[in-house]
Amino acid sequence: MAAPPSDTQVQRATVQSIRPVGDDAFVLEVTLPEALGPLRAGRFFMLKREDDLSPAIPRPFSVYRQAADDRVDFLIKTLGRGTQALANTRVGEKVQLTGPLGNGWPVWEADGSAKWFVGGGIGAAPFFMAIQQAIGVGVEPGKITFVYGGRTMGFLYDLDLFRELGVKVVAATDDGSEGFHGNVVQACESMLGEGEGAVQVFTCGPDPMMKAVVAFADRNEFQSWVSLESYMGCGVGICNGCAVGTKEEGPYGDWPVAKCCVDGPVFASSAVQL
Ligand SMILES: Cc1cc2nc3c(=O)[nH]c(=O)nc-3n(C[C@H](O)[C@H](O)[C@H](O)COP(=O)(O)OP(=O)(O)OC[C@H]3O[C@@H](n4cnc5c(N)ncnc54)[C@H](O)[C@@H]3O)c2cc1C
Ligand code: FES
Repeated sequence: MAAPPSDTQVQRATVQSIRPVGDDAFVLEVTLPEALGPLRAGRFFMLKREDDLSPAIPRPFSVYRQAADDRVDFLIKTLGRGTQALANTRVGEKVQLTGPLGNGWPVWEADGSAKWFVGGGIGAAPFFMAIQQAIGVGVEPGKITFVYGGRTMGFLYDLDLFRELGVKVVAATDDGSEGFHGNVVQACESMLGEGEGAVQVFTCGPDPMMKAVVAFADRNEFQSWVSLESYMGCGVGICNGCAVGTKEEGPYGDWPVAKCCVDGPVFASSAVQL
């Protein structure tokens, strides 16, 4: 079983800006006292505001963007106490940051396959840098599609920024308020038959959405990967709070559970049960 990453550190970061996005989310930009080096997209940090109201256990958040070695952005949806506290931080305040943690997306290869990144709501967070890094290793922007779904346009966060990446962006909303009228799987189905060739699918979002995206990929014999957002206690492999069931025919064999925090959060869909 995997151990915590050797580059993980605990740091007190300084809040540089808080930018509201969509109906219920914000981008939190922080600077760190110790530079981190380039981060792989899909890795995450445990984050906590230093106040008396925040829960004692830090919460996990994907790296959204890295503007410099010591500057990281998080795209955060306000849900409960932990995210509410982070939403209420002020510029100049300190937050506790543990990371980087987890494995991140697979190494990108300019292998001619189309890459479809399929995000739902806040599941867009690990895709911004993923797309930047895929382009960085030579994947043609024309081969990359970001399919981004939400109930309404208010749950498609930072869509304009994703559009600036220069890849094809397909927005999909349940109520048709932005882009394709329907869910992300229907949007993916509508893209078939455009001479796509081999396709690799990467998905992050609510569990039922990821399950449907993987089923779509399986039906079409596309390889797929998922980034799971399990509940986490420690983030470093100790508490067993993030157990994920594995598939016997996958790489874990008869080992029944993997830990999302140290074995993931990214898994080949052939490895884990959704
Ligand atoms: C590897 C990883 C990366 C993540 N990246 C991001 C990110 O980039 N941006 C972001 O906004 N969120 C992300 N999350 C989810 C985020 O950690 C939770 O939303 C957060 O912990 C909620 O904390 P809270 O104290 O505000 O809410 P809580 O009070 O803990 O919970 C509020 C409500 O949300 C539900 N909830 C809490 N956590 C989850 C979860 N993981 N899945 C489903 N429902 C949940 C609870 O059941 C409850 O109903 C990520 C999770 C993981 C594991
Ligand atoms: S969160 Fe504690 S083992 Fe994964």
